[in-house]
Amino acid sequence: MMESLEIVFHLYVLLLQSFGVFLAAQSELICSHQPIVALAGNDVILPCRLEPAISAADWRVEWTKPGLDPKNIHIHQDGRLEYWTQNPSYNFRTRVFVDELEQGNVSMKIFSVKLSDKGKYRCYIHSVQEEAFIHLSVGSVSSPVIKVTANTSRTLVLQCESKGWYPEPELLWLDGEGKLLSAGRTKTIRGPDDLYTVRGRVTVEKRHSNNFTCRVQQKIINQTRETQIHVSGGFIKDPSEDYLVIIGILMLGIPFILLLVVCLLCRLRSSKISTSDEEIKSTTTQSSELTTGDLTM
Ligand SMILES: *[C@@H]1O[C@H](CO)[C@@H](O)[C@H](O)[C@H]1NC(C)=O
Ligand SMILES: *[C@@H]1O[C@H](CO)[C@@H](O)[C@H](O)[C@H]1NC(C)=O
Ligand SMILES: *[C@@H]1O[C@H](CO)[C@@H](O)[C@H](O)[C@H]1NC(C)=O
Ligand SMILES: *[C@@H]1O[C@H](CO)[C@@H](O)[C@H](O)[C@H]1NC(C)=O
Repeated sequence: MMESLEIVFHLYVLLLQSFGVFLAAQSELICSHQPIVALAGNDVILPCRLEPAISAADWRVEWTKPGLDPKNIHIHQDGRLEYWTQNPSYNFRTRVFVDELEQGNVSMKIFSVKLSDKGKYRCYIHSVQEEAFIHLSVGSVSSPVIKVTANTSRTLVLQCESKGWYPEPELLWLDGEGKLLSAGRTKTIRGPDDLYTVRGRVTVEKRHSNNFTCRVQQKIINQTRETQIHVSGGFIKDPSEDYLVIIGILMLGIPFILLLVVCLLCRLRSSKISTSDEEIKSTTTQSSELTTGDLTM
């Protein structure tokens, strides 16, 4: 009886084990196909998992960076980091999520990302003979600074500069309505630290007050920084002042026009009176003539 129970138990264990191996053989290592983007100085997770989920808690999880020497970034073995094989530039900057390994989550976190961390990483799990690659892009940004480099009575030359970008960004000028301005050439300088400085200029008219925006953007790392400058209308008054001037003209003008109209009316009336006087005069002359005629008869 005991023996047969033992045999059943052994069979059961064998079955479980083969089922586990079957699952493991079916499990695939999947890392993000999209490149992962991080800004220098931030932390980032390189997401990878076994699917269907199977525990990797007892397995060796290898994170390496092909082409780097030494190439080991984080080797997880027997529940901890094999730190003596780790590339020194990653010392104290990596971890795997030990609690998550059981759910097949073999993601690696990198703390305080450096520009040099960019590139392709490989995750390998020997127990399932599975490998997967993931790409990390690292960016760097800064806010642009606008300066007025020339100020004539009619125009302003604005200069925008932004330092410390990676990868190379583009620079745009926008007017107050968000419309793109056709600006001069943008100069880009790559510094010894691999970071880019961009500088652009635009000449604007002072005709009306307006806001101008310098926008620096980098699409790969999906980052935009912008700075705005307010230019008050230079040699032509503010539209609100024009409005006041019109009101002023109207206020002074209306009595003047009224006066003019009154004067005209007065003159018209007096000339009319004089003509009717003449008419009366002429009739009296006629009648007196008549009387004279009558008298002659
Ligand atoms: C793996 O674990 C990390 C840390 O808890 C988490 O941010 C990430 O979303 C997990 N990934 C998956 C696929 O569950
Ligand atoms: C340009 O010069 C005028 C006159 O000197 C000044 O009032 C104005 O603020 C200047 N504009 C800018 C944008 O510096
Ligand atoms: C410029 O921007 C400021 C604040 O963003 C806003 O108050 C102002 O009305 C804008 N001026 C023009 C002429 O667009
Ligand atoms: C880019 O960033 C904006 C805002 O920061 C966000 O709404 C958008 O989803 C991002 N796009 C991509 C492709 O990551």
